Amino acid sequence: MSVLILAIESSCDDTSASVIQDGEVLSNCIANQEIHKLYGGVVPEAASRAHQVNIVPVVDAAIKKAGIKKENLSAIAFTRGPGLIGSLLVGVSFAKAFAMSLEIPMIEVNHMQAHILAHYAEEPKPPLPFLCLTVSGGHTQIVKVTDHLKMELLGSTIDDAAGEAFDKTGKLLGLDYPAGPLIDKYAKLGEPIFKFTEPKVGELDFSFSGLKTSILYFLRKNIKENPKFIEENLNDICASVQARIVSILLKKLKIAAQKTGIKHLAIAGGVSANSALRSGLEEMGKEMGWKTYIPRFEYCTDNAAMIAVTGYYKYLKKDFVGQDVVPVARWSV
Ligand code: KG4
Ligand code: ZN
Repeated sequence: MSVLILAIESSCDDTSASVIQDGEVLSNCIANQEIHKLYGGVVPEAASRAHQVNIVPVVDAAIKKAGIKKENLSAIAFTRGPGLIGSLLVGVSFAKAFAMSLEIPMIEVNHMQAHILAHYAEEPKPPLPFLCLTVSGGHTQIVKVTDHLKMELLGSTIDDAAGEAFDKTGKLLGLDYPAGPLIDKYAKLGEPIFKFTEPKVGELDFSFSGLKTSILYFLRKNIKENPKFIEENLNDICASVQARIVSILLKKLKIAAQKTGIKHLAIAGGVSANSALRSGLEEMGKEMGWKTYIPRFEYCTDNAAMIAVTGYYKYLKKDFVGQDVVPVARWSV
């Protein structure tokens, strides 16, 4: 009999549901929350309220698109953490009620582990072991993946995440939230002519808060001389900031590959949608003779297909949880 799993993702500001059959993704439906644009960042209370509104229609859409009957589901997987506690609570509560009514097991999934396993939702699948640079709005990590469910954290950010560096820069530039995709778009039209210093932190760790401060001072100084500085130089500023963030990320990944001798390198998480990071990784791979794995756009940002893939591996190990499970805001890979 085939294994059919419904997966729910609700850790931040996207409500998503996916159905997977024997490891093959049948549907991946996502409802984005526009409300946060008004505030320049995710408002936790607004996010959890929007999840409550979206979750039933999104699950319904995922089941319909997959062409299955909910009575045939083998299990339900859900994001237990890390994330915003109010957002997670909606997904976890939904999963509990769904599991109870269908009398099927529940599978808890770590969101960061799932970002990495999104690579197993498509071809080519990275062989084990591989290194993954996971870059999202809340995390920046280099992870050694020795088995689908066995991961070792080699390095991480000591302050802001790479996605935050994009989003906070965007705020300084007066761009909408999330600014990452906008900076990416404007950077394509500019040149990286402004230089920002590189942070000095542990070999495989990251730091982005100093960069944010130096961008702030750089803008203040230039706006004093020319009030229209941002307007007149937006594309070049975006290209310069993006080039620095990407060079920091790739430099550390290169060190990790050289230290571990692992020649299969992947990127994951929302920032892996960045075009300069994608092309930079590809170039580095060609130059060093390493194989690189870049996820399809829909598997970069938050999605339930990655929760479904992780849920599938855990299902095979009968790694289930009970009705007493609670969401967790912090949870390492
Ligand atoms: O993984 P994700 O969807 O959510 C979290 O788990 O945080 O990542 C969202 C982050 C945001 O900071 C957003 O600005 C960034 O990913 N992002 C990008 C791009 N697309 C999304 N950053 C740079 N370039 C992009 N094209
Ligand atoms: Zn994420």
